Amino acid sequence: MNNQVFIFDTTLRDGEQSPGCSMNFSEKIKMAKQLERLGVDIIEAGFPIASDGDFESVREISKQVRNCTIAGLSRANAKDIERAWEALKYAAKPRIHTFIATSDIHLKYKLKKTREQVLEDAVSAVQLAKSLCNDVEFSLEDASRTDIDYLCQVVEAVIGEGANVVNIPDTVGYAIPEEYGKIIRTIFERVPNVSKAIIGVHCHNDLGLAVANSLAGVMNGARQVECTVNGIGERAGNASLEEIVMAIRTRSEALQVHTNINTEEIYRSSKMLSTVTGTYIQRNKAIVGENAFAHEAGIHQDGMLKNAITYEIMTPQSVGIKHSTLVLGKHSGRHALKQRYEELGYHLEPEELEKAYALFSKIADEKKQVFDDDLIAILQDEVSSLEETYKLETLQVTSGINLVPTATVGLKKGSQFMQDSSTGDGPVDAAYRTIDRITGMKVDLLDYSIKSIAWGHDAIGEVFLKIAVDGFTFNGRSASTDVITGSVKAYVNAINHAIAARFRKQNQEHTIAVW
Ligand code: KIV
Ligand code: ZN
Repeated sequence: MNNQVFIFDTTLRDGEQSPGCSMNFSEKIKMAKQLERLGVDIIEAGFPIASDGDFESVREISKQVRNCTIAGLSRANAKDIERAWEALKYAAKPRIHTFIATSDIHLKYKLKKTREQVLEDAVSAVQLAKSLCNDVEFSLEDASRTDIDYLCQVVEAVIGEGANVVNIPDTVGYAIPEEYGKIIRTIFERVPNVSKAIIGVHCHNDLGLAVANSLAGVMNGARQVECTVNGIGERAGNASLEEIVMAIRTRSEALQVHTNINTEEIYRSSKMLSTVTGTYIQRNKAIVGENAFAHEAGIHQDGMLKNAITYEIMTPQSVGIKHSTLVLGKHSGRHALKQRYEELGYHLEPEELEKAYALFSKIADEKKQVFDDDLIAILQDEVSSLEETYKLETLQVTSGINLVPTATVGLKKGSQFMQDSSTGDGPVDAAYRTIDRITGMKVDLLDYSIKSIAWGHDAIGEVFLKIAVDGFTFNGRSASTDVITGSVKAYVNAINHAIAARFRKQNQEHTIAVW
């Protein structure tokens, strides 16, 4: 048996018809061109009878995308099939895809037809489609809930009329892998002319089994998989293209098949679709989610730094992601921190790394994730070589409505600990007044600003301020998740600069740049 699995992408038809995923004409063309770059074998461009918009986009995609087969969906009736052909006839490789439901549930409640009538409709539909187009696919809607004898009878009949592909959908995502695989196997065992067609699988994800069921189909002989980018589609979606393709690539020794997909285009395709439709991809989505190649646990990061094969079964580059991410958070170790600093261009001596790691751990405990900006702030704030005359040891502030803002600050100078309190216009002002009382210095605050670095409500606040002492100006800077602590530290930092400058006797200039 041929071991190529054809990838039939139905993002623009089954995917697009799901809530929140609709696309306009130009977005569909853009997406179709990306699917062509991705190397899908068949693009199901739409359902031409459904609307004029669908018709136009199928026609335009047929004209513009020349390297893929372009399929258009139609119910098993002449009007639908003729309309589909009208749109598809411009394609280099057109395919009419026609379908009818075959389960007794659908026959009784939806179609109100007998099995014989449905079989007749199926046969006539394929005959008509074949008279228009060389390449015809027939789908048995709700196949997984169809009586197996009847299913085999329909498959045999449509192949007899020349259907090139017969698709066996698990329309409502009801099957489990073992039984779905068995349906496909039974077709190969019981349908005498099965070798004249390709058997396709089309699985929905209502029980989260769409990919598993599709692979079970492949393991039992199916050679076309219908799927969508990011798994979008009716209700819980369709089988996800990226998961199918990467499972086949990563486990080729187990599955013994391959696809012709250009896997490096997977991430771009996924991003494009989510941007175009405005649908968010869950963080932990396999292959394309933000966490798919991200590692936070210290043990994992250490393993990754030694050899990525320890915790990655495929490379991020193989799906078009530049590199794995070692997310720095409270589970990260020194090794990962040092590595990240090196990537940012900072080489830390062991002592500096220790200091940075201590502060990093404190911040990581307070925040979910520590970003590069945070790391730079840590270095500039805590690891710089400034001689610190005063160190902030303790800080307590009270503020609120109908309360007088008060601060109690404890500073350490060498081994001496000094503590005082003061009131002020606000908690920061109260703390600054207290510090002035402790140091005995006359300080004018010239400028103060605070901004959030990185993002998220737990981001670090970075405080910049400028003070004047003895007619000279000094900068102070600090970063903390607590903006009052950050403000006080920045003030102490500026005072330490002022004191250091006094010692250096650099009083010729009016502004001493200390950074
Ligand atoms: O889910 C389904 O049965 C379908 C068919 C029209 C192929 O989408
Ligand atoms: Zn479907």
